[in-house]
Amino acid sequence: MSSPSSDNANKDKNFVWHPYTQMKDWARQENRVIVRGEGFYLVDDKNRRYLDGTANMWCNVWGHGQNEVVEAMRDQLKTLQHSTLFGLANEPSVRLAESLVKLAPGMDRVFYTDNGSTAVEAALKMALQYWQNIGRPEKKRFMSLKGGYHGDTVGAMSVGYVEQFFGAYKPLLAKVSRAPRPLLYGSKFDSDLDLTEYCLDQTEKALRKLEGKCAGLIMESGAQIAGGVVIYPEKYQQKVSELCKKYDTLLILDEIATGFGRLGNMVEYFAQNSEPDILCLGKALTAGYFPLAATLTHEKIYGAFLDNYEKNKQFYHGHTFTGHPVGCAAAVANLRLYEKHNLMQQIGNNAQYIEQRLTEFEEIDIVADVRHKGMLAGIELARNGKPLIHLKNGERINYFVARESLAMGVHLRTLGNILVIIPPLAMGGNELEKLMDSHLELAKKAERL
Ligand SMILES: Cc1ncc(COP(=O)(O)O)c(C=O)c1O
Repeated sequence: MSSPSSDNANKDKNFVWHPYTQMKDWARQENRVIVRGEGFYLVDDKNRRYLDGTANMWCNVWGHGQNEVVEAMRDQLKTLQHSTLFGLANEPSVRLAESLVKLAPGMDRVFYTDNGSTAVEAALKMALQYWQNIGRPEKKRFMSLKGGYHGDTVGAMSVGYVEQFFGAYKPLLAKVSRAPRPLLYGSKFDSDLDLTEYCLDQTEKALRKLEGKCAGLIMESGAQIAGGVVIYPEKYQQKVSELCKKYDTLLILDEIATGFGRLGNMVEYFAQNSEPDILCLGKALTAGYFPLAATLTHEKIYGAFLDNYEKNKQFYHGHTFTGHPVGCAAAVANLRLYEKHNLMQQIGNNAQYIEQRLTEFEEIDIVADVRHKGMLAGIELARNGKPLIHLKNGERINYFVARESLAMGVHLRTLGNILVIIPPLAMGGNELEKLMDSHLELAKKAERL
């Protein structure tokens, strides 16, 4: 007779379609069914424990299980499980909006969505309609950065286009102009300074080409993560922000993955001296406990949507679960915990520890580049000058890392040939040490294989 645990694993293989997964391979591999979270560990139905080394797709802050965020969600569920923002307001969404506006300098209004991709959709629609509402409908093109990622819905795929991922969906996508991103590794430049100058020059050329037609430039704030952990050089984002002003183009900053301390700053765009017109937040907003995202903007954009009803200037966007009270209650509790535990200070210390440990990777032959900021690092693996996609034994590096890390009791995912260090934001001490040790061991093993 089969045990309940093998039942779950089999049923998963029979019924569930996993994201970004070659299901033919999944069917052949051992799948782990997670049933519980305990602090920074996930526990499967065979009682095996895995350190959460991906922050559950980059969104977890405090680890898993019971804490004040869960309490706040439970209280909210008991009081009001959901009440729509269509025609009504709800208390947690009001409280959260007030907190976010206080937190985000220059931002005055909060529009809620359910996930990062839809926060980006809302941002693009907001930008497009802004220009129509003020009588400049010719401003309808968008610009973004090469290698950017903004989500998997149609607008988000258009601006964050990755050929390998989205080639099949191209017929759905809008035409977007792209500027180069400031990645020194593999470029023709010797210094960040020269590279930054080149990128800004190209960005300005592209903006000039679209002059009078560009609705907005969208980019990740502080760093690209999905595109390969590209940390922006100093002043780069500030200068892009200045260029957007010069060319009368809205700056849309996607801080979904990089905000709330991932790069060591609570509000990354502020630390970068940049001034977004529209800002997208998500992931760590609810500590990773509830799907909720937000698109913020300032009074000038918001004001363009105010007019007599018949002018039809209202913002036509909204989801069933927009401003979900449980998600908003989770976010309010989460932000309170940031202050209570002085999380940014902890992040500062832990980031120093990561920096120090990263020097150990330099001796490994297949490590070609190491990039780091805050609670994010990317370790680029290459052999003979080429990205290390397959090991000498033929195994794909991403499969090797997934399999070996689980066997070591850690859950990790690579971005192509890049090992990514992206722990839950409050992880430190022994757990962070174990995470760094695991990466080191994996890199050394991959070098031999
Ligand atoms: C920068 C950025 N924007 C948008 C998204 C999309 O967010 P979601 O997966 O919640 O739709 C992601 C997801 O990884 C992201 O990294």
